Amino acid sequence: MILGTDYVSTNIKPVRLSTDALRRHLYIIGKSGTGKSVLLDNLITDLIENGSGCCLIDPHGDLAEAVASRVPQKRINDVIYFDPADLSYSLGYDPLACTAPDNRPLVAENVLSAFAHVWGLSAQHTPRLLHILRNALRLLLDNQETLLGLPHLLTNARYRERLLRRRPKTTESREVTWSGTSAREIPARAGVR
Ligand SMILES: Nc1ncnc2c1ncn2[C@@H]1O[C@H](COP(=O)(O)OP(=O)(O)OP(=O)(O)O)[C@@H](O)[C@H]1O
Ligand SMILES: [Mg+2]
Repeated sequence: MILGTDYVSTNIKPVRLSTDALRRHLYIIGKSGTGKSVLLDNLITDLIENGSGCCLIDPHGDLAEAVASRVPQKRINDVIYFDPADLSYSLGYDPLACTAPDNRPLVAENVLSAFAHVWGLSAQHTPRLLHILRNALRLLLDNQETLLGLPHLLTNARYRERLLRRRPKTTESREVTWSGTSAREIPARAGVR
């Protein structure tokens, strides 16, 4: 992949980036307006053109739109364009989906830390809430439920009973003791009805 031309050295030569180097790490820094987005755009367009896969996470959206507008016909069916702000084309996303049993504790922790970040939860100030959320997520994961089950789990006793009965004995969820208290009591004790 050619990034540009080196005019600084005595002999002018192209500056290249191998696919192997690209796979490791690439950090593009520079003052505003120095061409970072254009460079990324060119790199991504080349990857798409030569049949490679890539994922662009663009918080602003302009680069994503520029790249999307240049996807060649042969790769159109490979493109997933996910714009969470576009309500006319909403795309379902469930962070608890298709998780292998070994990964479930990690997924639960990641979702929990996202909740903690959004709502300002902490082990110091809201330990019980974190505990309940963690166990609720683990129970949903073990039952292969979606995140939509979370409010039901906390407010619907029959649903909760069903998940507790169904959870597989072979997975780690049997270790989930809900702090030695019956899972049936916890939501009530936490003030959840
Ligand atoms: N290699 C290049 N040669 C000539 N012009 C370029 C080159 N790369 C970028 N430009 C021009 O420089 C301008 C700024 O580029 P770009 O938007 O990529 O900068 P940026 O570093 O992403 O800026 P920002 O930090 O504000 O997002 C654009 O008008 C673009 O056309
Ligand atoms: Mg930019």
